[in-house]
Amino acid sequence: MPHILSANQFTKDDIDKILSSAHTMETSLKNGAVKKLLDGKIIACIFYEPSTRTRLSFETAAIRLGANVISAEDALGNSSAYKGETIEDTARTISSYADAIVIRHPIEHTVEAAAKATDTPIINAGDGANQHPSQGLLDLYTIQKEHGRLDHLSIAFVGDVLHSRTLRSLIPLLALHQGNTFHFISPESLAISQEYRQELIDKKISFTESHNIEDGLPSADAVYMMRVQKERFKTQEEYDRIKDAFILKPEHLALIKKEAIIMHPLPRVNEIDIAIDTDSRASYFRQAQNGLYIRMALLLYVFNLA
Ligand code: CP
Repeated sequence: MPHILSANQFTKDDIDKILSSAHTMETSLKNGAVKKLLDGKIIACIFYEPSTRTRLSFETAAIRLGANVISAEDALGNSSAYKGETIEDTARTISSYADAIVIRHPIEHTVEAAAKATDTPIINAGDGANQHPSQGLLDLYTIQKEHGRLDHLSIAFVGDVLHSRTLRSLIPLLALHQGNTFHFISPESLAISQEYRQELIDKKISFTESHNIEDGLPSADAVYMMRVQKERFKTQEEYDRIKDAFILKPEHLALIKKEAIIMHPLPRVNEIDIAIDTDSRASYFRQAQNGLYIRMALLLYVFNLA
């Protein structure tokens, strides 16, 4: 059974299958007709980093499908990681209790290390600034629902593009579809890394970079706002200097196309003025809701039931 570690692992066929399964889940939930396909399974949710949406929607997804859930939140302090246990030993142990393990960890590639230690499916719920594949898929599902297509789109990523694992998960999924272009709009110190820039060039992915929020808005089909990630900064001072660099304000709405959507993986801190929430283009709470359908589909996928 497959692990889900990175959005880069998916083929276009995989994506079609997962999005179609998510649509079935959404329809079944709305009709009150969800089949308990995971009856008797146990899903472990082990979170070494805070979460509202990812953990609770994975747990809801498991319960809706008839599975039971065991979980450790704040696992750095409340699991045996605190006593020095390695991620490999933790994964090996939990795999003797649970049928699938969802893990979030603040350090890049730690979830991959867990996956190497067990054949029980491991799902990466976010590892540092590296990957967040379920978020990438729910973003893709949102774009498909809102725009009716996944090709020939211009996506403006605005804010802390340097630390964003959601950006690094959505781009490879959109890059499998024709004609998409990406625009990274950030303060200079939070631009994409040279390593990631080279990766995009090597993969022939079309992108531009700018440091002015107004640059990318008029051409965008989706404006993807991102939080400045306080937890990735070494000092509070460094964070305070940059945290309010890019805020989407009501006056920006006139620059954004009528048919465009405004996305955000959430949590939002200050980067979208709350007055924008009532604009029909603000799709971020619909986006968060789509996370439930995608995570139901992903649980079915790891058991080869999607
Ligand atoms: N988007 C996201 O991962 O949200 P949480 O941190 O609340 O899980």
